[in-house]
Amino acid sequence: MSTVDLSAKIPNNVDLGQDKRLLRALEQWQPNYLGWWREMGPDGFQEKDVWLRTAVGVDALGWAQFDYVRMPDYRWGIFLADPVKERTIGFGDGYGQPAWGVVPGEHRNTLRRLIVTQGDTEPASVEQQRRLGTSAPSLYDLRNLFQVNVEEGRHLWAMVYLLHSYFGRDGREEAEELLQRRSGSPDKPRILGAFNQPIDNWLDFFMFTMFTDRDGKYQLLALAESGFDPLSRTTRFMLTEEAHHMFVGETGVERIVQRTAELTKLDPNGDVRRQGGIPLEVIQRHLNLWFALSLDLFGGEVSSNAASFFAAGLKGRYREESYEDHLALDQHYRMSVVRDGRVEEEEVPLRTAMNEVLRDGYVEDCQRGVDRWNRRLEEAGLSERLRLPSKRFHRRIGMYADLPFDPDGRLVERGEWERRKGEWLPGEDDRALVASLQKPVREPGRIANWLARPARGIKGLPFEYEYVRLD
Ligand SMILES: [Fe+2]
Ligand SMILES: [Fe+2]
Repeated sequence: MSTVDLSAKIPNNVDLGQDKRLLRALEQWQPNYLGWWREMGPDGFQEKDVWLRTAVGVDALGWAQFDYVRMPDYRWGIFLADPVKERTIGFGDGYGQPAWGVVPGEHRNTLRRLIVTQGDTEPASVEQQRRLGTSAPSLYDLRNLFQVNVEEGRHLWAMVYLLHSYFGRDGREEAEELLQRRSGSPDKPRILGAFNQPIDNWLDFFMFTMFTDRDGKYQLLALAESGFDPLSRTTRFMLTEEAHHMFVGETGVERIVQRTAELTKLDPNGDVRRQGGIPLEVIQRHLNLWFALSLDLFGGEVSSNAASFFAAGLKGRYREESYEDHLALDQHYRMSVVRDGRVEEEEVPLRTAMNEVLRDGYVEDCQRGVDRWNRRLEEAGLSERLRLPSKRFHRRIGMYADLPFDPDGRLVERGEWERRKGEWLPGEDDRALVASLQKPVREPGRIANWLARPARGIKGLPFEYEYVRLD
């Protein structure tokens, strides 16, 4: 197992002290990063003690240490999963050849682009969520938000390490620009659409961590297969942290659903609004929105880029080892395509469908979460259920983009779509209702009325624990 240098200015398990040039470059980037964190990180809580998990090693025991820490003092560091001995490329034209320890010249630009695109999402989400702390429904949730935020900061470090180590001057420039772009900015926006949407309420936050962080999981899983070994090792370690983000989202929505069910039963007319809860149809509309936004992040259904990433061994499939054929040359993928206003089934060469293959794994994973939410409804004796909309609904990217598909995946008249979109997507009233519930609850052990308590606290501590010290 690799050793972690925790006393270093930048904690790491990559022997940073051995490479003075790289160390100097990263030490120059560090204050800029901290400047960004102070400006764009959680608003109003920088000086508070937060019960946080910090990675101090990459093995099962070492990677999760808990203690109170002020966020700017968080030990952001560089951690790579331990190398796999004699690792070979697991797919594509170079299948079976040794994995690369350096960047192959012919893939340099593509790899840099992949790393920058992934890296850009990390600070973007911190920016999107920076004001949420002021309306946290409990100290437990406040702490979880900050845990997610500091880890997204660390994921930025992970990508910046790769840029600095393997991409020379242009890598350093990209690392600077990662601190310059701003989520939602008209002139310097973040790269991907879903990361420019503001997240100013906790329903959106839980939907984001459920659906958008889960896209992140699948992108990281695909990059973990990469023939570029440092990228593979970096993303493998990021995945261990990412799991908590999705936990926050999945259980967050689950707790809303659970509370909605309780309040529905409490009201003589089953009117959850009157009881100060969030109606299921409002939850469903937010689900529809965030699912569609997150599906877009996988890219087009048929994609020559995806095919060439696969061919080149840069980006593989989710759990590539579970496939028998790692070349994917003569296979096909059956998908619904739109032709002359009609949906038809068509076979496309499998390599061009790699985005869709990854998206399929994602959809299945999301469905598992929705099933879990529905079990809460069932247990409460309610007949309503939540569901994932069709993959074609409300897309902005790919072959279904900007076509009037309803949540069942039927192509409807544009007029009908416009008339009914208020049934399917959050509208002004929904936003106003959700906004009216965003009142902070800051006493240990208490929680907002619209949300159920979690089944347990953090790391064996009770829910009542003072996860954030506010005074
Ligand atoms: Fe991340
Ligand atoms: Fe995340």
